[in-house]
Amino acid sequence: MQKKFTVLGIETSCDETAAAVYQTKRGILSNTIYSQIDLHKNFGGVVPELASRSQIEKINPVVQQALDQAHITLDDVDVVAVTNKPGLPGSLLVGLCFAKSIAWAKNKNIIGVNHLEGHVYSAMIEHDIPFPHLCLTASGGHTSLYLIKNFGDYEVLGETLDDAAGEAFDKIARLMNLPYPGGPVIEKLAQEVDFKDYFNYPRGKGKTLNFSFSGLKTAVLYDLVDKNAYDMHNKMFLKDKDETLKKSVSSSLLVCIADIFEQKLTLALKQYPQAKAITFAGGVACNKYICNRLQSLASKNNLPFFTPSRQYCTDNGAMIAFVGHYKAQKGLFDCWDLDIE
Ligand code: KG4
Ligand code: ZN
Repeated sequence: MQKKFTVLGIETSCDETAAAVYQTKRGILSNTIYSQIDLHKNFGGVVPELASRSQIEKINPVVQQALDQAHITLDDVDVVAVTNKPGLPGSLLVGLCFAKSIAWAKNKNIIGVNHLEGHVYSAMIEHDIPFPHLCLTASGGHTSLYLIKNFGDYEVLGETLDDAAGEAFDKIARLMNLPYPGGPVIEKLAQEVDFKDYFNYPRGKGKTLNFSFSGLKTAVLYDLVDKNAYDMHNKMFLKDKDETLKKSVSSSLLVCIADIFEQKLTLALKQYPQAKAITFAGGVACNKYICNRLQSLASKNNLPFFTPSRQYCTDNGAMIAFVGHYKAQKGLFDCWDLDIE
């Protein structure tokens, strides 16, 4: 029989302060988040020192809000689950120290959760997904392909050898003076030209299940230089007023990344024909165009396709509470020497 747990999940691995409550049978009771996007916007990426300072300011109100929205107090919580790896050390430490303090003070269990495992199972918060299945996670910090055999039992089939897919969107957006984060802006611009592939950027050889996006970023950069749109010497975009160019680059980039995902998943399906479904998670899974492409691929292979709703794609506390919950079911509690990794 399933034991009943109320789990408070805390996520502070990067530039979001997030918390959520998950309860056996009832599922997610609350999910709150404070995003630092505005804080890092002018820098074109996350500034670690600013991120950890903001985490310290927001952790208390965000956790309190998660408890309030779930209509519970800390006394009702059985387990505090917290992201302890991987991430920015300063940011991770804020969540971990906070989680340990409240758990110790209130005599609760503590469970450390791998942020990537959070993304991997995030589609299961809202959907019943058969095992084994293939899971592609793509965000600003990671891009990996997994075979998910059960809760807590998965195999990494491939990962990025350099940049993450979201990082490619962010860095190329930055080249064109587009705001951070790049993914949503690039999707919007690409949509305006109906996702046409103008420049046919390189897709790579694709013989393994690993990813590589830094070559793509360089290819786009050199193509912009060739088009007299980028000054390498002064690191300046020269065609700020050229909306047509920005749209064509965005659209070509998006189609290229969707092609790469499709190609890797096709290869993975050949190697792992036992897969019963495909899931797609992480911040990049907010992208409707890529989701539609992967949905078609799954349909072609007679497989169901799942992606979490938006709030569970980008970093969130719900996925941490969810993983914490199944670890609690298995009795996988941590000791007070739990540390960041
Ligand atoms: O999961 P997430 O919130 O944080 C990390 O763990 O990195 O993902 C953020 C990443 C950013 O790189 C952002 O550009 C990308 O997800 N992203 C998108 C879209 N929305 C967010 N990429 C493509 N299309 C989108 N609509
Ligand atoms: Zn993430």
